[in-house]
Amino acid sequence: MKVTVVGAGNVGATCADVLAHREIANEIVLLDIKEGFAEGKALDIWQTSPINLYDSRTIGSTNDYERTKDSDVVVITSGLPRKPGMSRDDLIATNAGIVKTVTENIVKYSPEAIIIVVSNPLDVMTYCAYLTAKTDSKKVFGMAGVLDTARYRAFLATELNVSPKDIQAVLMGGHGDTMVPLPRYTTVSGIPVTELIEENKLNEIIERTKFGGGEIVKLLGTSAWYAPGAAAAQMVEAVVRDQKRIFPVCAWLRGEYGMNDIYLGVPVILGKNGIEKIIELQLNEAEKTLLAESAEAVKSVMNVLDNMNANA
Ligand code: LAC
Repeated sequence: MKVTVVGAGNVGATCADVLAHREIANEIVLLDIKEGFAEGKALDIWQTSPINLYDSRTIGSTNDYERTKDSDVVVITSGLPRKPGMSRDDLIATNAGIVKTVTENIVKYSPEAIIIVVSNPLDVMTYCAYLTAKTDSKKVFGMAGVLDTARYRAFLATELNVSPKDIQAVLMGGHGDTMVPLPRYTTVSGIPVTELIEENKLNEIIERTKFGGGEIVKLLGTSAWYAPGAAAAQMVEAVVRDQKRIFPVCAWLRGEYGMNDIYLGVPVILGKNGIEKIIELQLNEAEKTLLAESAEAVKSVMNVLDNMNANA
């Protein structure tokens, strides 16, 4: 299996490191536009192989897409990260151009690849890659829900003082402050979380989750990378090992949840064909309202991209 990670910044390099370390692919190409950068990161990762005892090859390339030829999966992390005070949506003008160029180059050399987008604003950059790739929407999707649920689960694990391994959760909607964590679908080893935590504490955790990315931007002055990189790698693993994992993924909706022509976070089954199936939950009225609000927020940013394309 060959996996390409475009963008050797913090998120891309972390993703490549996890892919290599966990032997998720035997060949990993890390590509970046900055001269020597991907080569340096890839070499550093490869030099951990005798220590961490794995044999996945990690190769770096400065913008030579020929090296990515015949990739099975491509992760796109390219683009600017957020700075304090910025919303993910502020990045659209710069990152849309970057994601478009990257996607064109990717499909030129790997027309069959499954594309996982990580660049922000996530839902709209996934849409941008889909418009550019002109491929089956089952093969172009975005990483957000795995990260956002990981944050939610980590906060719950801390609060309840239990292992994060035992916390299961679903979260829907866009990768922004309108994301929709779903307490009704949150369990701790099968126990509904509402039986273990007071409502106001749970609400605090839900609010903290929605702004979880921003919390890190404030602390670090740039956006997170360990959890985003690991989350993307977990999605790659589900595809290359055909695991049929159920994850919240940013997917193209065609009538699911009563929505059309929008990329939005929903639970899906991930396997070798990419999105094998979108799972439709029976949401209650309150949950439906929150999801509709989140979809509205994503749609408004998608419109910005559509207008940029129309005027290009
Ligand atoms: C975050 C960025 C990567 O949520 O969107 O940390």
